[in-house]
Amino acid sequence: MRSNNRDHWGDATRAIHSGEEKHGISVPITTPITRSSTFTFSSTAEMKRWAEGKSKAYIYTRYGNPTLAVAEAKLAELEGGEDAVVAASGMAAISSALLAVVKSGEEIIATRQLYGGTYRLMRDILPRLGIRVHHLEAELEGAERLVNSNTRALYIETPTNPTLRLVDLRKAIELARRHKLVSLIDNTFASPILQKPLAMGFDIVVHSATKYLAGHHDLIAGAAVGSRAWMGRVRDMIIYLGGAMDPGAAFLLMRGLKTLEVRVRRQGETAMTVARFLSRHPKVSRVHYPGLPAHPDHRLAKRQMGGFGSMLAFDLRGGLPAARRFCDRVRVFLLAASLGGVESLVVLPIYTSHYRMSREELAAAGVQPGTVRVSVGLEDPGDLIADLKQALA
Ligand SMILES: Cc1ncc(COP(=O)(O)O)c(C=O)c1O
Repeated sequence: MRSNNRDHWGDATRAIHSGEEKHGISVPITTPITRSSTFTFSSTAEMKRWAEGKSKAYIYTRYGNPTLAVAEAKLAELEGGEDAVVAASGMAAISSALLAVVKSGEEIIATRQLYGGTYRLMRDILPRLGIRVHHLEAELEGAERLVNSNTRALYIETPTNPTLRLVDLRKAIELARRHKLVSLIDNTFASPILQKPLAMGFDIVVHSATKYLAGHHDLIAGAAVGSRAWMGRVRDMIIYLGGAMDPGAAFLLMRGLKTLEVRVRRQGETAMTVARFLSRHPKVSRVHYPGLPAHPDHRLAKRQMGGFGSMLAFDLRGGLPAARRFCDRVRVFLLAASLGGVESLVVLPIYTSHYRMSREELAAAGVQPGTVRVSVGLEDPGDLIADLKQALA
């Protein structure tokens, strides 16, 4: 149903129109790229006002830029947050958000099954800054033992990479509230089309906007969304650490966002077809896709997600040699890292997202040497199935 009230717009309308004012004479339909590193002041009096924090004028693109501001308004509306901050990459958004929340001497509890880069940041870098991270399993059992008076934040990712396990969002929020923790969630795999964690009570949502939000494998981008207060602190970190997005990337991100809803829905439908095909294939021992009734989190997925997404993984009976053979033979699927774009991709997590991890760390993440991760794109489902058939033959 069509609504003229922006507050009641659906996701597809928000993705296209939010943040942009297009009515009037000769107004461009797309937001122009303000490709300027710096902006003029009208006078030294205006400069002084800015220095005193009394002016919101644009002064320098690392601090803010009109093109970035439109992308931020769109993302804030899509996730249902007061404000958003875009960043040069998902990792820039994640590191800036974490450092906006925790300081030296404080601790984080985080689920263990995280994007490998986030896991390595927590393992290799945060401890150097005096920040300890304790990991717990996706079921969140035993959290009480890990929380102490220094614990400041809970960080989760759901669905997880690459085995598509789910964290119960209600349970996570209860845990955070019980211990007064700031709650952060990486919503990259679900996208705001399938899951809106801020509405459930999360404080900060982070994204690798490189993935579904942009959707075309043509840029690296990140974002954080939340309250105005939290986003002010995240923006400060972006300004200090330098992870600002380029205005050209913001243009591409907005172009991608306009088709987010239809891409996510269609990719999800095709992923279900692919998952069913793989689950019946004799060379496949296990398919990890929350849309399949056999998946351990299928019921939870039905409860907390508006669809099952288009990421899946599968284990081949022949282990690593069979997985390598399969990946070397695909012709429509491409052998490449990343996910969420229009091209379907396959990767071996042990050589990509989960490289440089010990055998124990891999086992804890549920990654087998023969696990293949699949990002289902927008090609014709029949062509994808034919490609899988020939690559598995
Ligand atoms: C779930 C998730 N979060 C964060 C990232 C990091 O994002 P970026 O590569 O845009 O820095 C990735 C990248 O693969 C990811 O899959």
